[in-house]
Amino acid sequence: MSVSRVLLAITAIGAGVVSAQSSCKASTITVASPAEATIDCKTVQGSIVFEGSDDVSGAVVISGPETIEGDLIIKNATAIQSLTSSTVEKIGGKFELQGLRSLTSIDFTSLEEVSEINWITLNALESVTFGTDGVTTVKKVRISDTFLNTLENFKMKSVGTFQIDNNKFLTKWETKLKEITESLIVADNAGELEVSFPLLTKAGDIDVRGVKSLSIPLLQEISGSILLTENNEMKSFLAPNLTETEQSVSVRNNDALSNVSFPLLERTRGGLTFQNNQKLETLDGFPKLKTVDGAVVLRGNFTEIELPSLNMVKGTFNVQSTEDIEDSCTELKGIDHIEGKYKCVGENEDANQAGKNGGSGSSNDDEEDAAGLLGISAPVVLAVAAIGGLLQLL
Ligand SMILES: *[C@@H]1O[C@H](CO)[C@@H](O)[C@H](O)[C@H]1NC(C)=O
Ligand SMILES: *[C@@H]1O[C@H](CO)[C@@H](O)[C@H](O)[C@H]1NC(C)=O
Ligand SMILES: *[C@@H]1O[C@H](CO)[C@@H](O)[C@H](O)[C@H]1NC(C)=O
Ligand SMILES: *[C@@H]1O[C@H](CO)[C@@H](O)[C@H](O)[C@H]1NC(C)=O
Repeated sequence: MSVSRVLLAITAIGAGVVSAQSSCKASTITVASPAEATIDCKTVQGSIVFEGSDDVSGAVVISGPETIEGDLIIKNATAIQSLTSSTVEKIGGKFELQGLRSLTSIDFTSLEEVSEINWITLNALESVTFGTDGVTTVKKVRISDTFLNTLENFKMKSVGTFQIDNNKFLTKWETKLKEITESLIVADNAGELEVSFPLLTKAGDIDVRGVKSLSIPLLQEISGSILLTENNEMKSFLAPNLTETEQSVSVRNNDALSNVSFPLLERTRGGLTFQNNQKLETLDGFPKLKTVDGAVVLRGNFTEIELPSLNMVKGTFNVQSTEDIEDSCTELKGIDHIEGKYKCVGENEDANQAGKNGGSGSSNDDEEDAAGLLGISAPVVLAVAAIGGLLQLL
């Protein structure tokens, strides 16, 4: 067989190494040993898929390709210890790693563009060096169930959906990310996780659970909802620059939270919900809030509630406290326009409970509350459940 016929044959079966080609047309290049990760083409037109076997082991270096037009997928190759590439600049599809039990480090120093990062159950992964500062744009990032304790060297500029969950050793996540166009989901990492987005100016949905702190100093607009739920070590929350949310503001079941402040927030186009944050006695962090396009539901151990600028509520207004809030109710009664039902009561032991499976469950406004809460947060909750948690980093 001539050399050219050998090349054709290899290309035809999509088996990989093609010498002296600047482009590899195979729809899938299969890598079955570390040596096969040296691929002699600048552009891989299809995907690179590693075999899920122990033969691909130790330090694996992907060398040669600058562009992978399809995916880079490695699943169940349990003996890989490190994964490195200094050539790969672009992955047109997914960068998917799953069940690589021995993988301790990922090092892709030239990577500038990848459509989707999906890293799940990498439970030895301790270090990631990734991307070029301020260049990398990723549509979707999900990092779940790893040993990462920092995301310091994971550099990106813009991310569509960023999900970081079940990374039990992650205690600090600071990222220079400037925008999250769709969703930020943080759930079930180390309970003391401190999350900081010093440069973030725009975000879609923010759904943060189980963190100690969340810092968003420059964030001005949220094109979805902001949900803070079960952040049991969080004592205070401040959104200093936020002026408007396209959907709801919802703060629920945060055991230690005693100070919440949205000093510039003028309007939420969804509802405003506080429920069962039992340490939050004074709710006075909304000095500029004028308009709530949904319902206002405030249930807690409040002694004082101040909403001095509020003059338009398009849904119901339901305030209930375990404590005496007669003075606050007298003030709140003065709100100009409340289109839905108005209720403001104190000294109700069940004030923290609401919705379909809690509390006295007797009144219609509970149903409305529940609809409002579930209506907004359900898709995000389902997404979290489906993947068992998410996480992302920068
Ligand atoms: C990888 O391993 C998991 C769990 O053992 C299994 O469910 C999955 O089917 C495997 N995937 C592949 C591509 O072999
Ligand atoms: C609000 O954002 C501006 C820049 O847009 C910044 O200069 C200012 O420090 C921010 N405010 C706070 C309280 O961080
Ligand atoms: C609550 O937080 C705001 C903003 O950080 C701060 O100005 C205010 O003093 C705090 N209030 C209390 C009672 O700690
Ligand atoms: C909130 O009020 C309920 C009902 O009175 C009470 O059982 C609970 O201990 C209070 N929580 C705090 C933190 O004071």
